[in-house]
Amino acid sequence: MYTSLALSTILLFCIHGGLTIDCPKSSANWCDNREIAQACGVVNQCTKYVWAVGADNDRVNFTLYYETLCPDCRQFISTQVWQAFQSISSIVNITFVPYGNAREVYRPETQLYQFYCQHGSDECYGNLIHTCVISLYPNTTAHLPFIYCTESTEGDVETVAGKCAEKTSIDYNKVTSCVQSRVGNQLQHLYAVQTESLQPPHQYVPWVTINGEHTEEMEQEAESDLVGLLCKTYKGSNPPAQCKKNL
Ligand SMILES: *[C@@H]1O[C@H](CO)[C@@H](O)[C@H](O)[C@H]1NC(C)=O
Ligand SMILES: *[C@@H]1O[C@H](CO)[C@@H](O)[C@H](O)[C@H]1NC(C)=O
Ligand SMILES: *[C@@H]1O[C@H](CO)[C@@H](O)[C@H](O)[C@H]1NC(C)=O
Repeated sequence: MYTSLALSTILLFCIHGGLTIDCPKSSANWCDNREIAQACGVVNQCTKYVWAVGADNDRVNFTLYYETLCPDCRQFISTQVWQAFQSISSIVNITFVPYGNAREVYRPETQLYQFYCQHGSDECYGNLIHTCVISLYPNTTAHLPFIYCTESTEGDVETVAGKCAEKTSIDYNKVTSCVQSRVGNQLQHLYAVQTESLQPPHQYVPWVTINGEHTEEMEQEAESDLVGLLCKTYKGSNPPAQCKKNL
């Protein structure tokens, strides 16, 4: 199949003197490359349904385990993560897990989890707000600017969250409803479970995993040059210009 296509491509090349390519009969080959797609008039379809999907599967999974008020988390999100999102978001799926070093206890009398956070109840409140925003706006492009805004702004948790929601087109009424609901409590519990099941177990925050893995070396590199680390890990065929600059 491959050989015969290559052969017919060469044949076409000879016949047409290299000026044009004919569209192959079998539609299975139409998205093989840009020239063929062009000849078949299906560049847009190939881009949307074949090439972009392939590129999506090549993405690096980057997951950040953090808690909202830890100074190192705030620093990491406001610099490295934000920069990576702005420059190389096409090659990475960024996932936030707001829980960190918190602890939970199930209270049978209320049938709710009670959370205890390293930086006090304000931090638990912040974690829950992030949890709800991520759940209400699962697309990274929609929730990351909010997370960045709250982590890079000093001040009272509630006030900052309200201001950032307005700035980043998040419906804060919906967030408040979620925060006060059983659903919000359950969602926060799921992040607790996800954090507690890390292998190796997390020892500090921020804690990163790349394609599900964590090493000390990786952590250090992430905190000093996340873009470089993600570019280096990316094995797809189409690294963005920001990566080439970094090599
Ligand atoms: C990244 O996310 C996109 C969209 O949700 C998905 O299609 C793709 O498979 C993900 N890539 C990886 C490596 O998980
Ligand atoms: C996320 O939102 C962006 C910007 O609106 C959009 O381009 C992208 O297709 C969305 N991704 C998914 C997986 O829906
Ligand atoms: C990325 O994450 C997705 C969804 O969590 C998973 O299905 C996929 O196997 C992961 N890819 C890699 C390379 O770890």
